[in-house]
Amino acid sequence: MQKKVISEIVQSEPSLIPIEVSGWVRTFRSNRFIHLNDGSTIHNLQCVVDFENFDEALLKKITVGAAIKVTGILVESQGQGQSVELQVEAVEILGEANPEDVKLTILSPKRHTLETLREQAHLRVRTNTFGAVMRVRSKLSFAIHDYFNKNGFNYMHTPIITGSDAEGAGEMFRVTLLDPKNPPVNQDGSVNYEEDFFEKETNLTVSGQLEAETYAMGLGKVYTFGPTFRAENSNTSRHLAEFWMIEPEVAFNDLDDNMDLAEDFIKYIIHFALEHCEDDLVFLENRLLEEEKSKPQNERSEMSLREKLKFVLENNFIRVSYTEAIDILRNSAPNKKKKFKYLIEEWGADLQSEHERYLVEKHFKCPVILFDYPAKIKAFYMRLNDDGKTVRAMDVLFPGIGEMVGGSQREERYDVLKEKMKAMDISEEELYWYLDLRKFGTCVHSGFGLGFERMVQFVTGMGNIRDVIPYPRTPGNAEF
Ligand code: 4AD
Ligand code: MG
Repeated sequence: MQKKVISEIVQSEPSLIPIEVSGWVRTFRSNRFIHLNDGSTIHNLQCVVDFENFDEALLKKITVGAAIKVTGILVESQGQGQSVELQVEAVEILGEANPEDVKLTILSPKRHTLETLREQAHLRVRTNTFGAVMRVRSKLSFAIHDYFNKNGFNYMHTPIITGSDAEGAGEMFRVTLLDPKNPPVNQDGSVNYEEDFFEKETNLTVSGQLEAETYAMGLGKVYTFGPTFRAENSNTSRHLAEFWMIEPEVAFNDLDDNMDLAEDFIKYIIHFALEHCEDDLVFLENRLLEEEKSKPQNERSEMSLREKLKFVLENNFIRVSYTEAIDILRNSAPNKKKKFKYLIEEWGADLQSEHERYLVEKHFKCPVILFDYPAKIKAFYMRLNDDGKTVRAMDVLFPGIGEMVGGSQREERYDVLKEKMKAMDISEEELYWYLDLRKFGTCVHSGFGLGFERMVQFVTGMGNIRDVIPYPRTPGNAEF
């Protein structure tokens, strides 16, 4: 018997050759129509049973959520909504699902809020929305590797456990085997990490950048794509404590090259999604249209999901310096009318997401790359400009998302970097190896980090970052 998946079946022609398909029952109507889904596509396979020819006890077990195997032949569908359906010859119940228990879960076929779905994250991938989101997520991961592979990058694995704080922001999760109730202490009362597993203080990585730089200095073009951890107490729809980041790093690239790379890369993966995820994107687009119906007219978006994706492909990202952006913001209506929570008063202010979103959504109505930020609000490793007060930083800002990418040209001058580290209280001892790169064949180089979940949010149109990763980790939540 030929085993088939539903994504293949729904595109096949009717045939007299029997096939076998397994999946989970989405609905079973009139003791006759089973809608089966196996995760291979958003589409269900309609399986038609002649109930007169089936044992009643067996039919009773075809319930929502149950896993079944059906065999039969593919015929032209009599009904609407599909071109073919399976005329069932045999049904095997693989795993039952008690309807009384199912009723208490999100598997029950009625509308559930995204919040409720989150509470049952172990079951939510069986809903249309999460099936679609997670298939898109998977495709996008593949697209990322595809892009870098085609462009001559080496995929490198940076460590998850590290002793350094790449961003210098102190938002790290400690890794230790010391007994929290009774840790060994130094004479001054501080914890003695020399007695810990690694014989030093260690944490989960906040970025693979510093290690990626070491490899770019030998392999030229590298990228990492791995889990990243931030112990920042941000309870927003854009922050996770554990997220996946893509970080390319390229020797001999300056900031302009870096911006070109970011734009080309982003466009490639969005194009890939449009090409390879059409059915799921159509579903997600309609889902958004439904959701928008409950909003007042002026809050609804002007473009559909796929129109937004195409818009990004067809337009150049607008490149604006931080200084220009501050002027725009200072003179903007929400700033003058004191509508911003954080008013922009002077040059040097850190930009909040309300400002970033004003720039992309209201002012430019287009993805924007901001560059040359004040040195004071950016990390220690960014290259200082000749003005002595700005650094070669860049952030790519997206509508609905805010910051999608953060990157920079790196400080390649030994003395300048050393000065910077001192001023920002970054341990030279800990990062001697990073300084070494500037002693042995230093060169201009650049890179950036793209938050994978924010990209998945943009492509799927999901409003909350917790709904684009299987098991979100946020303050107060590490369930599953
Ligand atoms: O701007 P960030 O902090 O930059 C870095 O980590 C650099 N080391 C990257 C590099 O140059 N190699 O983070 C990069 C991106 C952000 O633009 C954002 O998209 C995402 O990572 N990001 C988060 N995504 C989800 N949850 C969080 N808590 C995030 N923090 C950053
Ligand atoms: Mg950033």
